[in-house]
Amino acid sequence: MCGIVGYVGNDKSIEVLMGGLRRLEYRGYDSAGIAVIDDSGAVGTRKKSGKLQELVDELAEHPLGNGRTGIGHTRWATHGGPTDGNAHPHLGDDGKLALIHNGIIENFAELKQELLDEDPDTVFLSETDSEVAALLVGRAYREKRDLAEALRSVVDRLHGAFTLLVMHQDQPGVVVGARRNSPLVIGLGDGENFLGSDVAAFVEHTHRAMEIGQDQLAIITTDSVTVTDFDGNPVVAKEFEVAWDASAAEKGGWSSFMVKEITEQPEAVAKTLLGRAVDGEVHLQELEAIGADALKDVERIVIVGAGTANYSGLLAKYAIEAWTRIPVEVELSHEFRYRDPILTPNTLVVSISQSGETMDTLMAVKYASENGARTLSICNTQGATIPRESDAVVYTHAGPEVAVASTKAFVAQVVALYLLGLHLATVRGSMSAAAIADVVEDLQQLPEQMETVLKQHETITQLAGWMADTRSVLFLGRHVGFPVALEGALKLKEIAYIHAEGFAAGELKHGPIALIEPGVPVFVVVPSPRDPDSLHKKVVSNIQEIRARGARVLVIAEQGDAAVLPYADVVIPVPLASKFMEPLLAVIPLQIFALELASAKGLDVDQPRNLAKSVTVE
Ligand code: F6R
Repeated sequence: MCGIVGYVGNDKSIEVLMGGLRRLEYRGYDSAGIAVIDDSGAVGTRKKSGKLQELVDELAEHPLGNGRTGIGHTRWATHGGPTDGNAHPHLGDDGKLALIHNGIIENFAELKQELLDEDPDTVFLSETDSEVAALLVGRAYREKRDLAEALRSVVDRLHGAFTLLVMHQDQPGVVVGARRNSPLVIGLGDGENFLGSDVAAFVEHTHRAMEIGQDQLAIITTDSVTVTDFDGNPVVAKEFEVAWDASAAEKGGWSSFMVKEITEQPEAVAKTLLGRAVDGEVHLQELEAIGADALKDVERIVIVGAGTANYSGLLAKYAIEAWTRIPVEVELSHEFRYRDPILTPNTLVVSISQSGETMDTLMAVKYASENGARTLSICNTQGATIPRESDAVVYTHAGPEVAVASTKAFVAQVVALYLLGLHLATVRGSMSAAAIADVVEDLQQLPEQMETVLKQHETITQLAGWMADTRSVLFLGRHVGFPVALEGALKLKEIAYIHAEGFAAGELKHGPIALIEPGVPVFVVVPSPRDPDSLHKKVVSNIQEIRARGARVLVIAEQGDAAVLPYADVVIPVPLASKFMEPLLAVIPLQIFALELASAKGLDVDQPRNLAKSVTVE
C-alpha cells in the first residue's frame, strides 16, 4: 500500500524514479508524485491524482529539471482523498525538504496541534498525516542541520506504522529512509543507490539488495549506504541477491499482468517444488531453523492470513490434518490476535502472505511470537517483513505477482503448505514413505495438468462474454471444493465488481438456497466420481436442488464425469487428479472467468478500484 522509491546517483533521477513507480504502481494507484533536487540545487516536485500516467502527462507538460537525488511515491489514500494536494511528496522547511510516507501516523492530530501551538500561521497544504511529518522533520532540520539526525529525532514521536523517505536541498546527494512496521529495502548499485518499498523499485538497475530491520534508518549516497537503529547505533544489514529478473515483472506482450500470472501457474508450482520434493521424499531445509524435535512436539497448527492467502490455508488444512493428524485451525489474521487465542510453545503459527508485508498478518505473527508460539512464514517476497519476524520461512517461488488479484501466489501457497504437511508427516512418522511418495508424484504432475486446464481459456472467455451483464453469481463446493468456491467468488468481486458469494454446498439448504431464482448463475465445483467418501453423489444432489429452482448451473467436473451432464448448462472439465490436487486445477477456470468477465466489462483487471496489492495498514 503506497509505493516508495528513493534514488541517489547519476543525473537521470527522473527516469529512475518513474521506472520505479511504474513497477510499484500495483501498491497504490490513486495518485503519484516525485521530487528531485534539480541542477539548480532546489527541490522541485510534481504530483497528480489518478493513475501514474497523469503524472507522466504532467511532467511532459511541466518538465522538472533533472538531478541526481530524488524520491517518488504512488499513493493509496488513507488520510485525505486522492487529490493533487494530498499526493506525495510533502514539503517542509519552507520547501527545502521533501518527504514521502507509507503507513499511518496515528497521533498526527496531536502533532499537528503542536505545530499550530508553536506557530499559529503554519500552513497545511494537504489533509494528510504525512505533511505533518514533513513539517516536523523540516523543523528538526533547522535545529540539527543534519537530515539523518533530524529524522531520528522525529520518528520516535510518531505512533503507528510508517516508512518515510526524506531529502533536503542543503544536503544534495543524500536520501534518508526510516521504517517501522512498513516495508523498505535498499538497492546497491555502482555509483548509485536506491531505496524502495520492495525490490521491484530497483530491480531494473541492480540485483543486489539489503534488508532493513524494524525501527532502523538508512542513509544512502552515491557511494555509501549506512544503516543505524533509531538511536543512531550502527547496524549490520543483511545483503541478498534478488532472485528474479526485471523482465519477470514486465507484461511482456500479455494484455494484462493477471492473464500472464494465471498462465504462469504451472511454472509457479514447479519452482515451488524444485529441490524440495525429490525422489519421492520431501525435505524443507528451511524448517531446520525450528528444529526436528520442536516439529515433533507440535500439538496444534494455526494458519493465519487474509483474503486469498487465508483461503490457501483453508484449503491446505484438509491435507495437513489428514497427513499429520495435527489439528489445524485457519484464522483471518486480523481476527486472530483480538480474541486472546490460546498459544503454547507447541503451537505452530503459520502465516501466509504473498507480499510478506500485510499489516494484519504481520501483527498476528508478532502477537504469536510474543505469546510463546513458534512461527513459520510462507511468503513470496524476499526481504519482506513477515519472514524477518518469523522463526522460519518457506518461500513460494511464484515470481513477482503484480496484478492486484492474487492467482499464481495462491497455488504456490497451497503447494508450500502441502510440502509443510509432508515434511511434518515425515519427521513425525504419521505417513508411510510409500504414501508420501504417492503425494509427491501427484504434486509433480500438477504443472502439466494445469497446462491442460489453461487450454480452455478461450471457451471460458466466451462464457464470460455471454455473462457480462450478470449481477450476481454464486459458487458452491464441498470439502476442498469449498475454499475454491470462496476464492472464485472473491476473484469475481474484486476484479469484475459483481456480487458473488461462495458457500459450502451442504450449507445451501440452511439458508442460501433462498437466493436461487430462475437464471441465477451458480458455479459448482464437483469432486471426482472416484471419490470414496461419496461426496460426489452429494454434490450432484445439490446441483439437482438448485437446478429444480431454475439456477443456471456451471459445473467444474472431472473429465468424463457423466453424472453431472443431465443437470449442467455448462461443464468445464479438469483432468483426473487426486483429491487434494483437484482444487488446484478447479480454481483456474474461476480465475479465468473473473478475468474475462471484467475484461468484457471494460475494467482494468490489474488495478481494480479501491484496492492495492500490499495492504500495509490495519
Ligand atoms: C485477493 C488478494 C488479497 C490478498 C490479501 C493478502 O486476490 O490478492 O485478498 O490475498 O490482501 O495479501 P498477502 O498475501 O500479500 O498477505
